[in-house]
Amino acid sequence: MIHIITGTSRGIGRAIANYYLENGDKVIGISRTNEIVHDNFHFLKCDFTEKQQLYDLDLSPFVQEEPEPVQLINNSGIIGEIKRFHELTLTHYTDMSMVNVVAAQYMCSYVIQTFGFDHVKTIVNITSGAGERAVPSWAAYCASKAAINLFSETLAEELRELNKSTNIYCIAPGVVDTDMQVAIRSSKAKDFSGRQNFVELKENDELRTPEQVAELLATFLNEDHSDQGVLHRI
Ligand SMILES: NC(=O)c1ccc[n+]([C@@H]2O[C@H](COP(=O)([O-])OP(=O)(O)OC[C@H]3O[C@@H](n4cnc5c(N)ncnc54)[C@H](OP(=O)(O)O)[C@@H]3O)[C@@H](O)[C@H]2O)c1
Repeated sequence: MIHIITGTSRGIGRAIANYYLENGDKVIGISRTNEIVHDNFHFLKCDFTEKQQLYDLDLSPFVQEEPEPVQLINNSGIIGEIKRFHELTLTHYTDMSMVNVVAAQYMCSYVIQTFGFDHVKTIVNITSGAGERAVPSWAAYCASKAAINLFSETLAEELRELNKSTNIYCIAPGVVDTDMQVAIRSSKAKDFSGRQNFVELKENDELRTPEQVAELLATFLNEDHSDQGVLHRI
């Protein structure tokens, strides 16, 4: 199995990459930075906020004569500035859209174009509970996750119409102890009414570790959920 995973430099993406590498699989990791060194790991540097870098991303060297199944995990994500909407900048909105929405959408298309429907077994888009409920001061983040949820549900309909067996899932990982949570707790109380909840989750040791999420995700993907819809929480 070849796993194409975005955002493998840290947090959940790095833990998923390490899980599959320990399993003996091949991993292609895509992000701006990288720390993983492993014989079965290939790093592709790409800044998803830069359209040209997405154009230049080349997965064709990984197409094999005797193809192994491919799994795409769109995990890269940003929360950006945690502020009221009237204080947010154009860069906040464009970066959020490029990383959380455009790059993930494009990767779905590009991976199918490169490896073919018959070889791409599963596409996972990492989403959030914030894609299904409004969280004040996370407007663009909530909207980006809602967008990827409906995008994925639409792809599932297309896959059905085309009679293709590729599975597509949006998976919300719960609250996970990563840099994204550090950014959330570092926000100012005046900017984010929910900040204290996240501080308490950390103080009470209630966050999942990225490694727990990687294991839960792998277990989920080992089971057949093809008749249970697209949106899942693990
Ligand atoms: N942590 C949580 O509690 C939580 C909860 C629900 C959902 N999620 C979702 O889980 C996913 C992973 O989040 P995390 O908590 O692991 O976050 P994280 O620790 O901040 O890691 C984010 C990853 O995204 C990559 N990334 C950021 N900007 C990028 C860019 N411009 N181009 C390419 N890659 C970029 C980063 O790599 P580089 O910086 O090296 O580019 C990094 O590997 C996200 O989609 C997030 O929305 C997280």
